[in-house]
Amino acid sequence: MDVPAKSIIILDFGSQYTQLIARRIRELNVYSLIVRYNTSAEKIKLLDPSGIILSGGPASVYSENAPAIDPEIFNLNIPILGICYGLQLMVHVLGGKVDSSSNREFGHAELIINETSPLLHDLGDKQRVWMSHSDKVLSIPSEFESIAETENTRHAAIADNSKKIFGIQFHPEVAHTPCGMKLLHNFVFSVCGCAANWSMSSFIETTIPDMQSKIKNDKVILGLSGGVDSSVTALLLQKAIGDNLICVFVNNGLLRSGEPEFIEEVFSNRFLLNLHVENASDQFLQKLEGITEPESKRKIIGHEFIEVFNNVAERFKNVVYLAQGTTYPDVIESVSINDNPSAVIKSHHNVGGLPETMNLELIEPLRTLFKDEVREVGRQLGLPGELNWRQPFPGPGLAVRIIGAVDKVGLDVLRKADKIVHDEMVRAEFYYRVWQSFAVLLPVRSVGVMGDERTYENAIALRIVESSDGMTADWARLPHELLSKISNRIINEVHGINRVCYDISSKPPGTIEWE
Ligand code: XMP
Repeated sequence: MDVPAKSIIILDFGSQYTQLIARRIRELNVYSLIVRYNTSAEKIKLLDPSGIILSGGPASVYSENAPAIDPEIFNLNIPILGICYGLQLMVHVLGGKVDSSSNREFGHAELIINETSPLLHDLGDKQRVWMSHSDKVLSIPSEFESIAETENTRHAAIADNSKKIFGIQFHPEVAHTPCGMKLLHNFVFSVCGCAANWSMSSFIETTIPDMQSKIKNDKVILGLSGGVDSSVTALLLQKAIGDNLICVFVNNGLLRSGEPEFIEEVFSNRFLLNLHVENASDQFLQKLEGITEPESKRKIIGHEFIEVFNNVAERFKNVVYLAQGTTYPDVIESVSINDNPSAVIKSHHNVGGLPETMNLELIEPLRTLFKDEVREVGRQLGLPGELNWRQPFPGPGLAVRIIGAVDKVGLDVLRKADKIVHDEMVRAEFYYRVWQSFAVLLPVRSVGVMGDERTYENAIALRIVESSDGMTADWARLPHELLSKISNRIINEVHGINRVCYDISSKPPGTIEWE
């Protein structure tokens, strides 16, 4: 899809909030996209945005590797809003002075609004805002005026009204700044003159004919996993090209209880998709026999998936395209400043990619969308809530939730326990409120008593976490009655388990999955 006219471009200087800024702009029904901080003015001009936002970032403008901006961007005659580091950089480049400081201001501050400006229009005299910075602006470039201050800084917001260039020290994108959306609204509509025309119904309306004219009468193959992204991709493409979309669901034998049947029921029977279910359970289990090392398990599963998928694809003639449920966060090139480690750790999760040797051209209809937007598209296309709002499930499936070697007996035990966790979480209305909730089968055996008998059986760990993106997480503080219900049911109903433990590790240092 082409970039819609009237978009906002965000230059990413490495802030943890950059994607949040982009999402906030889209919540205002305006398209936004993120580009690297060093994108040239020339390139930005070609993209023809209505406004530019300079994100925050962890660097100091004086540090050796400080991310710089092409100064020509300030001469493009396009409105600009600098946030935090974006403000400091703007001041630094345009002739003001930034005070380097090791004292961090973090938390709420009271913003006193001194001057009228389209940016702060209708915000009153005072607002609570969220600060997170060390350096601060000491003096501003001559064409600018200070329009708001806090106790800690005289230049909490600055403006060059004639050139429509603004800077703010606080973060409007976070929920802790209640007036943040109003400020962004002012920038996007009053200053930049954008129209509110980005919506998921307009996305669907334009994507379907786009796909039709690109694909024509060719065939497209898609690996349907039952996750949100591939499910929505399937429904969207089916609307565009009908049965020319061939969906392949690989049952690797590592799926949750009832999953293959559920997928077939929804996509084959309800949506009448051209769906091919490939049962390769035995093949996967054979290859995994005796394998205990987590990364080896992942490699084997990834490799087998490609084998199976390739074999199925070869059965179809005239397949030209491979569709994938790639979304915007997969596409954004993460800016790593100060060696931010989170960007590196995440990379191993982008597995399941198919090899280039398939010689198929890629189709990625969701590549401009954030997850919440994908779900909205899913909702509009009628994807059942159980699929649209389901928790993430790892590609290697239950294999990384059985610690040690994977076999049918272990899988059977884990499936039963996992189903109890799922059902009780749904019943107690906690399933959709946490990030993930699942059981892990531990290879340890411990002693217990059941009735009059001594038992010596395995343990299940419950992993139930809250998170906003899976990068950091904390264990969920669930009601004890719910934990007790889950534990009792597992011990009573799942043969082979006599003990249930609750994992109270946060991430970091623990990961969400145990392997
Ligand atoms: P960790 O365990 O690294 O997981 O804290 C973070 C998120 O990623 C999921 N995850 C995976 N997803 N393939 C996937 O597709 C994988 O190998 C994989 N490992 C972890 C995990 O479920 C959580 O949502």
